[in-house]
Amino acid sequence: MPATVIVGLQWGDEGKGKTTDFLAPQVAMVVRYQGGDNAGHTVVTGTEVFKLQLVPSGVLYPHITSVIGNGVVVNPATLISELDMLISRGIDVSRVRVSRSAHVTMPYHVALDRGNEDRLADSRVGTTGRGIGPTYGDRAWRVGLRVEDLEDRNRLRERLERVLPERNLLLGAMGIPPFEIEPLVELAAGWGDRLKAHMDDSTWLVQDAIARGDHVLFEGAQGTLLDLDHGSYPFVTSSNPVAGGACTGGGLGPLQVDEVIGVMKAYSTRVGSGPFPTELEDEIGKGIAARGHEFGTVTGRPRRVGWFDTVPLRYAVAVNSISSIVLNKLDILSGIKTVRLCVAYEVDGRRVETWPSSGAALERATPIYEDFPGWDEPIHDVRTLSDLPENARRYLTALEGHAGVPIVFVSVGPERTQTIERAWRPLRNRSAVPTIERPGTPAR
Ligand code: IMP
Repeated sequence: MPATVIVGLQWGDEGKGKTTDFLAPQVAMVVRYQGGDNAGHTVVTGTEVFKLQLVPSGVLYPHITSVIGNGVVVNPATLISELDMLISRGIDVSRVRVSRSAHVTMPYHVALDRGNEDRLADSRVGTTGRGIGPTYGDRAWRVGLRVEDLEDRNRLRERLERVLPERNLLLGAMGIPPFEIEPLVELAAGWGDRLKAHMDDSTWLVQDAIARGDHVLFEGAQGTLLDLDHGSYPFVTSSNPVAGGACTGGGLGPLQVDEVIGVMKAYSTRVGSGPFPTELEDEIGKGIAARGHEFGTVTGRPRRVGWFDTVPLRYAVAVNSISSIVLNKLDILSGIKTVRLCVAYEVDGRRVETWPSSGAALERATPIYEDFPGWDEPIHDVRTLSDLPENARRYLTALEGHAGVPIVFVSVGPERTQTIERAWRPLRNRSAVPTIERPGTPAR
């Protein structure tokens, strides 16, 4: 099983970090393929808690090469402080590689993101304010800076001369002071000096690892419902968290993907604005938020909480070609009298079972629920499915039925060991595909 993609099936924060960390002993390389320091991964190992934003969570294992792929937008200041934090806690970061083609988030991107949100006022997206949208915007407009540019002051100056005057005009219109080129050149060149040893051609790193038969894990940030193309636009992030994003942002072809693992929580959360049909604004929601510590890893904002919604789940399983599912935080639902599962929406008097491609339709959607009796017992210490309370098993079976693919891990607590593991195997096995010798190793 050489290439596995891990993707969020909801609005992010599904616990992908724990999943990657759980699978890490079996893999040689972990690759982040999109997003930037808007993401937050929390990994708990024993008494230690690591909060990571850019470095893939595999870094905690000395045998793993951690790769920040070309599809990621890198704020070098964040990356450097994360590397420093890891070094100060005794973690070897020498195997952290960052793609030379990844785009760089500059201070003016952050200022533009925040200024734009202020300008949008009530219709703001609720971004993390990390400059993600403006960085991807510049990438698409071909005026961005790439990690490779940090190595060369002249190139930095040339790139900034192309883009900065216009960005300063925009900032001026928002009442934000302009940026000067030379201080930015110095800042960026300093980042370059520090990151030089980590810069690499991530696509060939990935391709060579796959050719060797190494197991490579592609780690998505955010989730399917925040996808630029598949989420409820415009309340989305500016990249493609879906599994297809691993190809464009991680440097592999679609047929090189062997397994796509979807990660979801036993309930829903969302940070930022946008439609959220199953949102709970009552005491049950507050209880879930408190027990589940539902606060943004990056911004500290309280997350909005709601019942599990199977309508987007079915969509997410389809667009990601999910082959197995990890269900997290089942323990958080213990003690709730009736657990509700959204099975369809009512939109303009009609029952709708498919995720509407229109954000406007989603705004008008009312959830149709199926109710499940809850369970009182704490389940933190349960390690086999058969030891789960019967009502918890029933809820799980219903979720699996809606997904149409097996739930292979169930998490009942934050620690690595608090996981119920079911027998599983990859659904596709490509070992039968003949390999053709490459005529030579390309120079790189
Ligand atoms: P941006 O990615 O900062 O531009 O924010 C766009 C939307 O994505 C906002 O609704 C954010 O709250 C949301 N978002 C971005 N990153 C994450 C994440 O890691 N978890 C949950 N929501 C996120």
